[in-house]
Amino acid sequence: MVDDSGYDRQAADWSARMTASAPGKIILFGEHAVVYGRPALAVPVTEVRATASVQRSTDPGVWLEAPVIGLRAELSCLPQDHPLAAAVRSVFSTLDIETPPDCVIHVDSTIPVASGLGSGAAVSVAVIRALAAYLGHRLPDERVSALAYEIEKLHHGTPSGIDNTVITYAQPVYFVRGQAMERLQVGAPFTLVIGNSGIPAPTKESVGDVRRLWEADPPRWEKVFDQIADIVRRARELIENGAWRGLGKLMDTNHALLQELTVSSEALDRLVEAARRAGALGAKLSGGGRGGNMIALVERQNAPVVAEALLAAGATQTMITQVD
Ligand code: PMV
Repeated sequence: MVDDSGYDRQAADWSARMTASAPGKIILFGEHAVVYGRPALAVPVTEVRATASVQRSTDPGVWLEAPVIGLRAELSCLPQDHPLAAAVRSVFSTLDIETPPDCVIHVDSTIPVASGLGSGAAVSVAVIRALAAYLGHRLPDERVSALAYEIEKLHHGTPSGIDNTVITYAQPVYFVRGQAMERLQVGAPFTLVIGNSGIPAPTKESVGDVRRLWEADPPRWEKVFDQIADIVRRARELIENGAWRGLGKLMDTNHALLQELTVSSEALDRLVEAARRAGALGAKLSGGGRGGNMIALVERQNAPVVAEALLAAGATQTMITQVD
């Protein structure tokens, strides 16, 4: 049985199967600016999960199986920068395991890849926890998050650390790069519709392009990052006070600033517009942009209508999630 902390509560022994899982995530406000030291808000998305289980192998070696990406390979055959292999190696290294036991690490995930839902970080967190548990260790969250952060660097060079943080702690977070996790208190629950553009989000590329913009004119973009930081702080206050309806306007303004940063796209803008026309209180892209997901803030009873409108406007998938 997998509990809320993502751990299998069965006793750990060499013949036992150890399982851990981690949720997806969505960034509410502050993406991109967060790379430049500004705060951001992110929440777990528990409707989707990555799950890893580890058990004894009859074949010698450490086997990795991930059917969703068609992977079945022995650890030593995988390159150093393979994210899954790197997660496994990082656990052996942090626990000083020189001769790993013969085992199979099986990974499943319902989190769409490259969509801004944190699939890479969720897989890393699940693998790190399940393998550590199999080896008889329960790693503290801080350590799990730090290990997952190292793997995030393989996905894109300069991650802020927001994905591994929100996914490890599985709680709404107010995140500032390099600082300890701060829990975001949610005064009253609110509903989001997530729409997938169906186009993979090239996060590494969009983060790189923002970097080039910034290098060419730091004062201009610092001002934009400050405006985003201001939105994040106001959003935090509204969320904590249960005044979530006010978030709609902030989402619209944040989206406009992301457009200015060149990280939106025609498809994302179309979905954002469709959500607003269907009655959403506000909408914005979420994550790296240029593809991936957008989010819309809705009255709970209006969520299905907005989800339908998103599908009609070209979304390949929608999800309704409650932030609480
Ligand atoms: O595309 P995602 O959801 O993994 O998020 C990227 C968020 C950025 O702020 C653009 C980059 C980062 O590392 O924080």
